[in-house]
Amino acid sequence: MKQQSLSESQLTQLNALKVLVQKRFANHGADHDWYHIERVYQLAVFLQSKEGGDLMLISCASLLHDISDHKLNGGILNDGGNVTRQILGDLGHDALFAAKVAEIVDGVSFKGAGVPDESTSLEMQIVRDADRLDAMGAIGIARAFHFGGSRNRPFFSPNQLPNQHTTFEAYSSDKSHTINHFHEKLLLLKDRLHTKAAKDMGESRHRLMENFVEEFYQDWNFTGDN
Ligand code: ADP
Ligand code: NI
Repeated sequence: MKQQSLSESQLTQLNALKVLVQKRFANHGADHDWYHIERVYQLAVFLQSKEGGDLMLISCASLLHDISDHKLNGGILNDGGNVTRQILGDLGHDALFAAKVAEIVDGVSFKGAGVPDESTSLEMQIVRDADRLDAMGAIGIARAFHFGGSRNRPFFSPNQLPNQHTTFEAYSSDKSHTINHFHEKLLLLKDRLHTKAAKDMGESRHRLMENFVEEFYQDWNFTGDN
């Protein structure tokens, strides 16, 4: 066990941050609501207990990882770090710690099938793995269809093939159907998890999505002859 514990003052700071983030996410849809943040936080704390890393850094970064997501802020890319520095500064954290959290927040996102992940630290890897595990499995499927539904996208259109995006701009502006998102991101995540603990958890979440997509195509293509 590599579990760490937090001091009384760190717990107080963390609680203040939770209250603030929960308020900011009060009106967000189910694909990126407070419950997503809470699940990612729980996953990140669990991964830290198996893999090590700085628990306070991991806790703050997981709570702040979607604080200014381009899908929720009107399309500004890589803005989360700025908002993070501001929030942590206001809560009395020192600038060096805020900068470390901001670096993780800016680096966590999946930026396209053809865009490699840069991981600068174990803490970055853990927060990214936690966010990715919540994009996989049963909840991953629910989130994807909620996201597509909230933008009035079809489940699937047979003539619109998936893209392997090579830039964040191309990935983030793509508006195709929800089944494409499985091929463009969700089914790729298993091989883009960093830590052993996350890879172990990712196996069954991946299998469920694979089976789901296969059955989706079977049902879609039903003719009575097959
Ligand atoms: P990250 O969390 O790495 O920043 P994204 O912001 O691309 O990744 O996506 C987060 C989640 O939002 C996805 O896992 C999925 O649930 C949902 N989502 C994003 N883009 C789409 C899309 N085009 N279709 C369906 N769901 C999407
Ligand atoms: Ni997230």
